[in-house]
Amino acid sequence: MDDRPPTAAWRPQTMALDGGLVIDPVTGAIQPNISMSVNNLVVPGEGAFSAAELGDIAAEPFTYARWLNPTVRGLEARMAALEGAEDAVAFATGVAAIAGVFLTLLKAGDHLVIADVTYAGAAELARTILPDLGIDVTPVNLSDPGALEAALRPNTRLVHCESPANPILRLTDLAEVARIAHAHGALVSVDSTLATPVATRPLALGVDLVIHSLTKFINGHGDALGGIVAGRRDLVARLRGRAGVYLGAALPAMNAWLILRGIDTLFPRMRQISETAGRVAAFLEGHPKVERVIHPGLPSHPQRDLVQRQMDLPGGMIFFQTRDLRATAARIAARLKVAHYAFSLGHQRSIIVLLETDEMMRGTYRLTPSQEAAYRAYAGDGGFRLSVGLEAAEDLIADLDQALAD
Ligand SMILES: Cc1ncc(COP(=O)(O)O)c(C=O)c1O
Repeated sequence: MDDRPPTAAWRPQTMALDGGLVIDPVTGAIQPNISMSVNNLVVPGEGAFSAAELGDIAAEPFTYARWLNPTVRGLEARMAALEGAEDAVAFATGVAAIAGVFLTLLKAGDHLVIADVTYAGAAELARTILPDLGIDVTPVNLSDPGALEAALRPNTRLVHCESPANPILRLTDLAEVARIAHAHGALVSVDSTLATPVATRPLALGVDLVIHSLTKFINGHGDALGGIVAGRRDLVARLRGRAGVYLGAALPAMNAWLILRGIDTLFPRMRQISETAGRVAAFLEGHPKVERVIHPGLPSHPQRDLVQRQMDLPGGMIFFQTRDLRATAARIAARLKVAHYAFSLGHQRSIIVLLETDEMMRGTYRLTPSQEAAYRAYAGDGGFRLSVGLEAAEDLIADLDQALAD
């Protein structure tokens, strides 16, 4: 981006603080100011009136906050720097970012290949809304390159994956998927929310667009929704004009400002969370009530080699199974004092929730019988999705221990 200092040589940890940071020319403020103004003065004749006229974004004035807002622009610059992207565009939520990608890159008659397991909202959006618009959708286990090859068609425009996938923490070999998809002329988007740029930088592996729910680890404080898409300048410009402006899911400046503050501590948070998650996962793996634990940091993760190649850190997510899932859920929800029984993930406090396979199959994934059998072989009747926070590992382990007891 033209409006960020020449920082390409910095390490990602420095980018998380200073990537794209523009010192306020009026006040000299080092910490980003928040600009809540919906509109700013413009020079007659300058600035786009129609989204179709949006030009070089660095030269566009801040006409109206649904187009561009200075604080949101600061967040876009920071995220682009962190992902090593030419540009990024922010959205009101992670789902809005995913919808923006689908509805910008796909039209009637096109084909989308989507991973059979993704965040439920993305799965349901692809299976419910896109077919109504004349877009063909094929869910595929993208951890199997052969299955991807078999699913691609001449009209496949996009392959969308998630790595690690929520909730089962299965990885996708991003370099391999990009290689296969590109050979067939399709673009690749990845939802990298669970990895964060601390663990994986998908654009460097050949992926075209990287998507985050900023609501999760990147903000990290459970107090702001947000989403972002980073990638090539021309693709991001299309997204900004079509989805950003027309669909209208613009990120509020207040959220951008909160998320920027969250990113300041992304690296130390992710390192601490990963270390704690490793200790909690090892504890759960040795617990008599626990039948299986999936965590990228465990030697037992089924894709150990890929984890080592593709993730610099294992991250904070754990999926584990017990016998009698519902009774265990009721018991731990009533007993937990440190972790919280609730939805969402990536916050500073640990969060746990039961995700049952039957429910996921009915409402969310709607897989073919053989795909469902493969999911059940991996995830059984379901399990607990635990998002590890910043509490002391010892306290979290003691809390889970007392909650799991008879
Ligand atoms: C992997 C992933 N992507 C996207 C989302 C959606 O994010 P948001 O709630 O910001 O729309 C979630 C939410 O849980 C998620 O886990």
